[in-house]
Amino acid sequence: MWLWAVAMLAYAVIAAAPTRTRASQTCPCSSPALCQPISVTHAREVFGFSVSNDTSYDRYDWDQLTTVAWNEDPALMCAAHAAGARVVIDGRSANPVAVYGNRTARAAWVAEQVQHAVEAHLDGINFDLEAPILPGDPLALEYSALVAEAAAAFHAAIPGSQVSVDVPWSPYGVDDRHYDWAGLAEATDLLFVMAYDTQSQIWGRCVASANSPLALVQRGLQQWLQLGAPRSKLVLGLPWYGYKYPCVNSGFAGQHDLCELSPVPFFGAPCSDAAGQQVCFSDIAAMTSAAGGDSQGPSFKFTGTGAVGSRALSATQPGKWITEQQHSLHHQQQLEVEVEQGSGAALACHVRYDAQQESPYANCRRTSDAAGSYSHQIWFDDPASIRLKCQLATELGLRGVGVWNLDCLDYQCVDPACSHATMAMWAALQAFQASVTPAHQTPEVQHYSVFA
Ligand SMILES: *[C@@H]1O[C@H](CO)[C@@H](O)[C@H](O)[C@H]1NC(C)=O
Ligand SMILES: *[C@@H]1O[C@H](CO)[C@@H](O)[C@H](O)[C@H]1NC(C)=O
Repeated sequence: MWLWAVAMLAYAVIAAAPTRTRASQTCPCSSPALCQPISVTHAREVFGFSVSNDTSYDRYDWDQLTTVAWNEDPALMCAAHAAGARVVIDGRSANPVAVYGNRTARAAWVAEQVQHAVEAHLDGINFDLEAPILPGDPLALEYSALVAEAAAAFHAAIPGSQVSVDVPWSPYGVDDRHYDWAGLAEATDLLFVMAYDTQSQIWGRCVASANSPLALVQRGLQQWLQLGAPRSKLVLGLPWYGYKYPCVNSGFAGQHDLCELSPVPFFGAPCSDAAGQQVCFSDIAAMTSAAGGDSQGPSFKFTGTGAVGSRALSATQPGKWITEQQHSLHHQQQLEVEVEQGSGAALACHVRYDAQQESPYANCRRTSDAAGSYSHQIWFDDPASIRLKCQLATELGLRGVGVWNLDCLDYQCVDPACSHATMAMWAALQAFQASVTPAHQTPEVQHYSVFA
């Protein structure tokens, strides 16, 4: 008996010691309390993806952020927890072929993720499968099974933890993603609606257009709601980036400034935004001083004195337009913008506004080319266009807004106009207000007939 007791005691000491030591030793925060997972429910979600490996997170707006995805930097976790925000891990490590359809492999993968999150003091997981799944492919149900199993395991192991899934702007076949939306909507706490890349299939004329046009964003959200996705789970994901398109009809000009694209087929469509290049807002809007500034990477230099509505733009306030213009004043701006590329290929751009798509864009020419002989078009979102979409999220009673991605703003800039632009992008999110009453009740999630 005593032998047994001594043995058990020894075992208990051995078993407990490493756990206790590890837990206290590995909390990297100033206070061990900061390593506790976040358990509060935020009525207003602001969900951001963090992809940088520097200390930019210091400059995130922690008064607004409630969830940060994918960045597991321990210092970021401490900052997030101090602000009551969750940090959720990247669920993309599950290999669809090896894991999704294999119960044993699924269980092992889920257990691994939970253990990792517990050890790193993290608060959940975000799934972002974007591969095509054709209707009837069992992979669709296997994916939602994996998400459901992860949700059950996370919720059990980490009280208050959050499981989310990133979904396209519309549930209807974007990039051939015919997933089990109902199963995913049921299983998760949040659906991050990626209300961008809406030109990934261009079925009409092969021309550049907005990345996140308001009317299409509205359409997509209505489709999610009509499908039965609960408002309380929907987060409107917004782009802090745009697309730079080379135009095959170089020299286009004037009122009819359509930028014709080289047709790049994508999932059945003859033309797509793959003809362009994604560019961060910071690269589109980073403003140099009048003297020139940074030679690395593209930057905009505002050289004109065009009027923004009734307000004259001062040459000493480069880029002010981007933070202060009202959307009603956007139309046909004749603002001179200069884009300098690190490669030395400088572009001069006119920023304009498309009222139908509620999106700014810029017509650009190489500075070596004659005035008006445009060769590129850049479609992007600015604080005004982001604000409109946040208002839409408010009107629809959604749970939150979010961004891809938090590091598409310049947090290092010293130029006042640059830091103003960064702050204005954050401030635009304030146009989203959570419903005063808890999100509207919605009917049970409807299953696609194909899965019924
Ligand atoms: C951060 O990422 C960049 C680009 O991937 C890399 O070049 C750099 O070495 C990384 N820095 C650190 C501190 O890990
Ligand atoms: C399922 O996964 C387990 C664990 O990874 C593996 O041992 C097994 O071979 C897999 N089964 C099949 C049919 O692939």
